[in-house]
Amino acid sequence: MGSKERIEKLRGELHAHNHRYYVQDSPVISDYEFDMLLKELEELESKHPEYINPNSPSSRVGGSITKNFTSIKHTYPMLSLSNTYSLEEIQEWILRVEKSTAKVSFVCELKYDGVAIGIRYQNGEMIQAVTRGDGTQGDDITNNVRTIKSVPLRLDNSFPKDFEIRGEIVMPHKAFEALNKRREAEGLPKFANPRNCASGTLKLQDSSEVAKRGLDAYLYYVLPEGVLSPSHSESILASANMGFKVPLVKDKFIAKCSGLDQIMDFIDYWEDQRKNLRFDIDGIVIKVDDYESQQKLGFTAKSPRWATAYKFKAERVPTQLNSITYQVGRTGAITPVANLEPIWLGGTTVKRASLHNSDQIELLDLYEKDIVFVEKGGEIIPKVVSVDISQRNASAQQVTFIEKCPECSSLLERKEGEAQHYCPNADNCPPQLSGRIEHYISRKAMDLAGMGGETVQLLVKKGLIRNPADLYFLTFDQLIELEGFKETSVQNILDGIQQSKNVPFERVLFALGIRHVGSTVAKVLAKYFKSMYVLAQASIEEIVAVEGIGSVIASEVYGFFREEKNAIILDALVGAGLQMEVGPESITAVSSPITNAKIIVSGVFEYFTRNELKDVIEKHGAQNVSSISSKTTYIIAGDGIGPAKLQKAQSLGIRILSEQEFIELLGL
Ligand code: IVH
Repeated sequence: MGSKERIEKLRGELHAHNHRYYVQDSPVISDYEFDMLLKELEELESKHPEYINPNSPSSRVGGSITKNFTSIKHTYPMLSLSNTYSLEEIQEWILRVEKSTAKVSFVCELKYDGVAIGIRYQNGEMIQAVTRGDGTQGDDITNNVRTIKSVPLRLDNSFPKDFEIRGEIVMPHKAFEALNKRREAEGLPKFANPRNCASGTLKLQDSSEVAKRGLDAYLYYVLPEGVLSPSHSESILASANMGFKVPLVKDKFIAKCSGLDQIMDFIDYWEDQRKNLRFDIDGIVIKVDDYESQQKLGFTAKSPRWATAYKFKAERVPTQLNSITYQVGRTGAITPVANLEPIWLGGTTVKRASLHNSDQIELLDLYEKDIVFVEKGGEIIPKVVSVDISQRNASAQQVTFIEKCPECSSLLERKEGEAQHYCPNADNCPPQLSGRIEHYISRKAMDLAGMGGETVQLLVKKGLIRNPADLYFLTFDQLIELEGFKETSVQNILDGIQQSKNVPFERVLFALGIRHVGSTVAKVLAKYFKSMYVLAQASIEEIVAVEGIGSVIASEVYGFFREEKNAIILDALVGAGLQMEVGPESITAVSSPITNAKIIVSGVFEYFTRNELKDVIEKHGAQNVSSISSKTTYIIAGDGIGPAKLQKAQSLGIRILSEQEFIELLGL
């Protein structure tokens, strides 16, 4: 057999084994045998580059680097779904649909909590995979999607010549936990939840890293409608036949339902059973099955009328409150954290939950050793949402908020109108000192290799450093005396400190830890003022004049440079030789998709408070505005947004984003 034929044969075999393993979950050869076949293929392909094909099974391991993802216009807009937490509203929707089209049947499916993707196939070959983006255009992440083993690179049996299939890329719990464990060991920040993790992974430049992370995909929407079959359920079956991983009836991931009762049964079943799934779902999607009825029902501006989603309330479990600890952040803010009897919740074991502040403790009416209900929002740390008073011990004591800093015993302060208590001892409280330095050395800031949080805390404790500038005076002799420090690790730390002198100005500015100056704002300021000296001299008016900088940020920046202790640290950093001006080539474009946008936030949201959203907007260099005009770029519409506002936005052609779409747009 010639090389070309052997390559083709190997590709065919590997393709089939891959399908059996990742889609059908029934492999017929061992991993070792599979690896041997793959190795043979890789060797042949490297000897015969003329036969290289991006859809070869060898592409599954990745290797391509995408510096900038190209923006691609969707052939069909990528709409979202109307959704509700109320079963009554689902019932009303069903009745409405049944009224408008005769003899309609429905399909119920899982609402996968992942990242939406549209994948195009031509002549049975995958040619492109695009994210939702803003619904009109998204990012071309084809190379990264090629590494997801359950996505076929070429199709089996018969297939339409040119079509698109859409679905959701999910990060299974197991893969998520393993990745976070690895990241923790490497001192990298953990992902808050599998969805964020999937979204972050798909935006990685190096596809071989994507290949390692164990993403999976479920596909649920074939376009153009009717290209395969006259109904949605038949299209899904036909897609399975082409090799796609689709929701299966036997797994109960999908069901044809003839009316209200069957739909409610499906919802009830998964409300209870979702805890046993290997990936997250956040609700149930109900669709009208036949395309003819779908067409009759049509679309609103944002979503189809032929489908809707019932969203589950966040999962909530009871457990015992063992104790409360109080954490001191780098700004001195005190955060009470509940230490809990470990409990399994949404795919992970939960041991701690945030209590936010003293108001929250009062609101919960928390007593020691209470049985509390814990819920997972979008953050890493879950929340305590309520107390089971019926189980409270009669002799239990009410929880009282601490009066003194747990670290330095200073009397805590609380500013008028603020929820948070603060330790005022900014200059001497150890976690505040180390917190500021930890921020300074962090990856997005100075990226000081060789040093982690524990080292910083130790150096602060030993009195060797009190602020970022002190790092530049550390000596080999001082470090080598510390317990557990060897010559190489000391040298690594000192090398890292030296190298940080080349870090561009915008990151130095971010590293200073000025309140509200995240990395995007730092970029905007650096680009505009070009040097620390000019920025330090700027008036509040001059700072506000910068596109995308609001008055809150401006006054923080202005105030920072007026404090003497900051001036002293800055002088020392200048003396150490840090980059205090933009270099000719270091003016990088701000890459946030909302930079300079004018955005209105309205309504109530699920993952963020309104203020948090506004904060995110400012941090991405966009502007919060309050009244709609033709200059408004986006409206982020939460629950309860007024219909008049929506109508006005629609008539002005302003893009309306749901919270979820906003999260996806920014890859949060
Ligand atoms: S169908 C025209 N089916 O949820 C809209 N979407 O919140 C077609 N999603 O945009 C979408 N599971 O990204 C559909 N079984 C499912 C889904 C699903 C998750 C996502 C999808 C959608 C979003 C709306």
